[in-house]
Amino acid sequence: MRVFITGLQGQLGRSLAEKLSNGEGAIVVSGGDLPDWDMTDPEQVDKVFADFNPDVVIHSAALTNVDYCAENPAEAVRVNGFGTYNVAVAGAVAGALMVAISTNEVFDGLVNRPYLEYDRRNPANPYGYSKWVAEQVVERFAGHYMIVRTSWLYAPGGANFIHKILTRARSGEPLRVVTNEVGSPTYVNDLARAVIELIRTNRQGVYHLVNEGGCSRYDFARAILELADLDIPIEPITSDAFERASSPPPYAPLDNVFAAALGVKMRPWQEALAEYIREYEQV
Ligand SMILES: NC(=O)c1ccc[n+]([C@@H]2O[C@H](COP(=O)([O-])OP(=O)(O)OC[C@H]3O[C@@H](n4cnc5c(N)ncnc54)[C@H](OP(=O)(O)O)[C@@H]3O)[C@@H](O)[C@H]2O)c1
Repeated sequence: MRVFITGLQGQLGRSLAEKLSNGEGAIVVSGGDLPDWDMTDPEQVDKVFADFNPDVVIHSAALTNVDYCAENPAEAVRVNGFGTYNVAVAGAVAGALMVAISTNEVFDGLVNRPYLEYDRRNPANPYGYSKWVAEQVVERFAGHYMIVRTSWLYAPGGANFIHKILTRARSGEPLRVVTNEVGSPTYVNDLARAVIELIRTNRQGVYHLVNEGGCSRYDFARAILELADLDIPIEPITSDAFERASSPPPYAPLDNVFAAALGVKMRPWQEALAEYIREYEQV
């Protein structure tokens, strides 16, 4: 199996490449990322796919800075929408399965229950809008596809939420965290494993893959401190207490119904977080 990963240097791209390369030997992995390979350039995308001839394209590349997307909505659509269009078209020409990674932010977060795969999309913000465009481009132009939505990713080495909370706590800075943003924290290594399992099912369609359950950012921060044995108070606040360019969906955990029905299971977010902190954040 020949697998091409877009966004190879990103959090998910790196984990996918590592897991696929350590696999059963019959897998050849390649990938592209900025600055050498730009998915918004159709000629570059066509050329790399014609040369590599992938069986599977895992499309992980995206402009993921939600605040930057809110400040630059046209660029967000150009990169996430048009870039995905280029990948979908070139993948279809190669006859490849396209596995497009998407987000819980295609939902508005107003229904007060975890989202199911075929719930109505109504993006909460410009980043969500650009990923919604990307999903539609995949549905329209990729020959065979899976759309895999996930949320609140964290990975070793990243300047992620967990690392920021621990750094602030350990340096004695006050902690204030919002209670009115609820999602499903997801460990990138769990997601990468599940994406590979999902590909092996030979199915298509829309899937959610998050660590099971959901919590507010405040509860997430509390769990992080407890697991790191830090008895430090956190002030609960709501999002109107601080300014940011993007507004996240207020309640957007995802339910992994379809993947679980195919036997692709995710563990609860608390278990994944405990392992991550044990392995990467203990001092
Ligand atoms: N992170 C999350 O919490 C989260 C949540 C839900 C869904 N997702 C989705 O999951 C996927 C993976 O996320 P991630 O956290 O691994 O993202 P990431 O770490 O930001 O990686 C994305 C990669 O894509 C690259 N990229 C951006 N624009 C590109 C372009 N025009 N051409 C080629 N490569 C380009 C980035 O390069 P630069 O770094 O140089 O820009 C980066 O290496 C994304 O599709 C994202 O939308 C992420």
